[in-house]
Amino acid sequence: MSTELDPSTQMKKQVGEAAAAMVQSGSIVGLGTGSTAAFMIQALGDRLRTGDLKDIRGITTSFQGEVLARECNIPLSTLNEVDCIDIAIDGADEVDPQKNLIKGGGAAHTQEKLVAAFAKQFIVIVDSSKLVEKLNLGFLLPVEVLPRALNPVSKTIEKLGGKPQLRMAVKKSGPVVTDQGNLILDVKFENGIDNPAELEKTLNNIPGVLENGLFVGLTDLVLVGEVVDGKPVVRQI
Ligand code: 5RP
Repeated sequence: MSTELDPSTQMKKQVGEAAAAMVQSGSIVGLGTGSTAAFMIQALGDRLRTGDLKDIRGITTSFQGEVLARECNIPLSTLNEVDCIDIAIDGADEVDPQKNLIKGGGAAHTQEKLVAAFAKQFIVIVDSSKLVEKLNLGFLLPVEVLPRALNPVSKTIEKLGGKPQLRMAVKKSGPVVTDQGNLILDVKFENGIDNPAELEKTLNNIPGVLENGLFVGLTDLVLVGEVVDGKPVVRQI
């Protein structure tokens, strides 16, 4: 175990590397976004460099992933150039017992959902702090909104019982602007989300909403990083 990494980072690294080890030569690989997915991308780059892995092509889900994948010399393709994605690997902000997710902490959930939905196998990599009994009691639900629809979408979400707040940028004045040029509303439902499948559809049906961060019925496998007796371990759900 690396001594300079804090426990949370150790767990993220461990699951990232475990997921990268599951990728087979010749695969089209969906590359997620975030700090956990970054460890997976780096580990894929390491496997390519040593010759342990060959002939993969990555499909990124954000500018962040694209920049990192290029640094790691991972050949890239696009959704419009491939027939399918063999395996997609991504982090999450919350995972419930049914393996439903909240994603979008990095404002990348629209592309992330596209890639996950197009993949034959979708693997989620999280540290144990992301496991929850019910979604949205802790993490707010990201909703990507066309800028000119901000006000009407906010009002409709309020009518559904949600409290939307515009996500503001750090180290830039004003709101976060997504890779698609849209805005993010982070939404809190007071008692959490009772029916993720229904809410996912209801939100996406609001004119002006591009995509929300609920991922329902997409996850095949969750790799959970934990520290047990001071050692990082990975368990599968
Ligand atoms: C980005 C995401 C990320 O996968 C999610 O926020 C988890 O990030 P991290 O691994 O940094 O905790 O959904 O939109």
